[in-house]
Amino acid sequence: MARINDNYLKLPGAYLFSTVARKTNEFTQAHPDREVIKMSIGDVTKPLAPAVIEAMHKAVDEMGTAEGFHGYGPEQGYAFLRDKIVEIDYKARGIDVDADEIFVSDGAKSDCGNIGDIFSADNRVAVCDPVYPVYVDTNAMAGRAGEYVNERWSNLYYMPCTEDNGFMPELPKENVDIIYLCFPNNPTGVAATREQLKPWVEYAKNNGAVILYDSAYEAFITDPDVPHSIYEIEGAKEVAVEFRSFSKTAGFTGTRCAYTVVPHELKVDGVELNGLWNRRQCTKFNGVPYVIQKAAEAVYSDEGQRQTREAIDYYLENAKIIRKALSDAGLTVYGGENAPYIWAKTPDGMKSWDFFDKVLEETGVVTTPGSGFGPSGEGYIRLTAFSTKENTIKAMEKIKNIL
Ligand code: MLT
Repeated sequence: MARINDNYLKLPGAYLFSTVARKTNEFTQAHPDREVIKMSIGDVTKPLAPAVIEAMHKAVDEMGTAEGFHGYGPEQGYAFLRDKIVEIDYKARGIDVDADEIFVSDGAKSDCGNIGDIFSADNRVAVCDPVYPVYVDTNAMAGRAGEYVNERWSNLYYMPCTEDNGFMPELPKENVDIIYLCFPNNPTGVAATREQLKPWVEYAKNNGAVILYDSAYEAFITDPDVPHSIYEIEGAKEVAVEFRSFSKTAGFTGTRCAYTVVPHELKVDGVELNGLWNRRQCTKFNGVPYVIQKAAEAVYSDEGQRQTREAIDYYLENAKIIRKALSDAGLTVYGGENAPYIWAKTPDGMKSWDFFDKVLEETGVVTTPGSGFGPSGEGYIRLTAFSTKENTIKAMEKIKNIL
């Protein structure tokens, strides 16, 4: 008789952004004439850069010719893209990464979730609280999180990130084996400096732990003390996997392209994780389409770099507008300086979902309730800077009016 993976039954409710989408749809149905401005899921609004579109068109045309047709590509990604990643994302920052340590994929979300395949189910996992729910839910699905009791998973080690510690997690006081870190952070928008990251690499080295470092938002870093890669920290290649994405950097949320770096130096039980991940990808993944990888390659051309930079600056300007409007309205705000996310304290200690509902009902603006990211997110909401500038300004005016 077939049996299900009953870890799925332990998951509370729906995926956070599905719940937000459901509530938004209910609102739209109840109020078909009201304008809705989405500042919830981090989905970009600016079109793909002209250089990217040009490369994509060219690749589509190639696919229609006998000489230019591409069938299955390498599971790890085409050399033309991996070499550009090595050169521009790493070498240019003084970091030595080899092309065979790069694995091109369809998204950092998938990779952050799938990476669990190569780790034993009895690893103790540490996550920040609040946290991007994918790290938690995928470990729960794999049976690594234990039981869900009182809004917490019994086997996870939670690292609270609160106002008191400047939203920076403290090193675990118990032994943990796998540590998820995300900087610039989703959801708080706070970024760790080199000095703040060093102790994590030390901790991982001393305790045989692996850091799963999500740097999907590195393109939004403005502060020179904030590293773009964990490999800027000495010794990190021995302890960390890094996830990167073209989604927020170059507008690929709908186009899907990302990559993960698994250095050869990184070994667990004397086994290179690079080999295990390669085995996993070759078995379960057939690579990102040629056309999409060509589009991603164009991000690294001079034009592509300039055009994608313009889009990032546009979103950072939105972040500034949000920060200022909410502060002027009397809210305490964090993030938004090295990240596209603004983490705002709700007024008068309101619960996150209550404030979410109030803002949606009274203004039509969709935010994300902080408590959806973990117990320490209670009393906060998250806003994204990925809307259009006009809608950002409009949304802020509306929120200011109700506060
Ligand atoms: C978010 O809003 O947290 C992100 O867009 C989700 C994602 O990248 O999957």
